[in-house]
Amino acid sequence: MRSKVLITGSSGKLGKRVLEFNEGLSFLSPSSKDLDITSETSVNKFLNQNSFNTIIHCAALARMMECEENPNKAFLINTQGTLNLVNKVRDIEKSCKTNIRFIYISTDGVYPCINGNYDEDSPTIPYNIYGWSKLGGETTVRSLENFCIIRTRFFDPLNIPFSESADDIITSSIEIDRLAKIINFLVKDEFNGVLNVGNEATTEFLRYISHKPNLKKCKRSDITKNLNFEIAKNASMNISLMKKILSS
Ligand SMILES: NC(=O)c1ccc[n+]([C@@H]2O[C@H](COP(=O)([O-])OP(=O)(O)OC[C@H]3O[C@@H](n4cnc5c(N)ncnc54)[C@H](OP(=O)(O)O)[C@@H]3O)[C@@H](O)[C@H]2O)c1
Repeated sequence: MRSKVLITGSSGKLGKRVLEFNEGLSFLSPSSKDLDITSETSVNKFLNQNSFNTIIHCAALARMMECEENPNKAFLINTQGTLNLVNKVRDIEKSCKTNIRFIYISTDGVYPCINGNYDEDSPTIPYNIYGWSKLGGETTVRSLENFCIIRTRFFDPLNIPFSESADDIITSSIEIDRLAKIINFLVKDEFNGVLNVGNEATTEFLRYISHKPNLKKCKRSDITKNLNFEIAKNASMNISLMKKILSS
């Protein structure tokens, strides 16, 4: 059956790409005005008036600095907003005796991001407000029957928006187009649970230099000296499960 997908955050960086890789999917892509996830009334109204069998939940307050400056807003959008969707999905499932697949775009920032190589069962101890608010969203999604939580970090090779990058920050950051394709795959796949989605670990500098040859090298401490919140040291993830699922 062709999946009918409700996507939140479709005007955002990732949401836009997911819409582009829509092989075999048909999308409902409301603006944040038509579906404001922080409003129970808005969520109930939109989900009552539209039918779908999958949600890809990309909407978030994804800017770390803004999350630190306004934790209430971060938890309202990332945790309460996700809970509003989850509660309505559960209601629809009960009243319509149907099953809705819920794909939640989470972050590698739910891990401590100190030693790296985190697998899906590693302890989740976020290092800043953004991570905690996304972990709150994860918790609500886990109460559903049919869900996939994608822990990730992504970048756009054609638009690397900084002039220098640290050679002592390690991540599993993945190209945005590849992530969008994997999300499309996971809509149709039956995998249920938490999944790390990324590349093999390397430093941020080595990841980006081939896409932006004039990129300058810096240290993590050069970045953190101007910040009043923590960023990752080693956010690398074990991606064995992802490889197994994609090759099956
Ligand atoms: N960027 C990264 O490197 C990264 C890494 C790991 C995970 N993620 C996760 O990936 C997802 C997408 O991130 P992104 O970088 O594409 O984000 P983004 O470009 O900042 O876009 C955020 C989206 O969320 C929507 N939104 C915000 N508040 C909303 C509300 N109250 N109701 C409905 N929609 C609302 C925005 O709509 P408006 O434009 O109308 O405000 C926008 O479409 C997020 O869940 C994020 O946590 C991002």
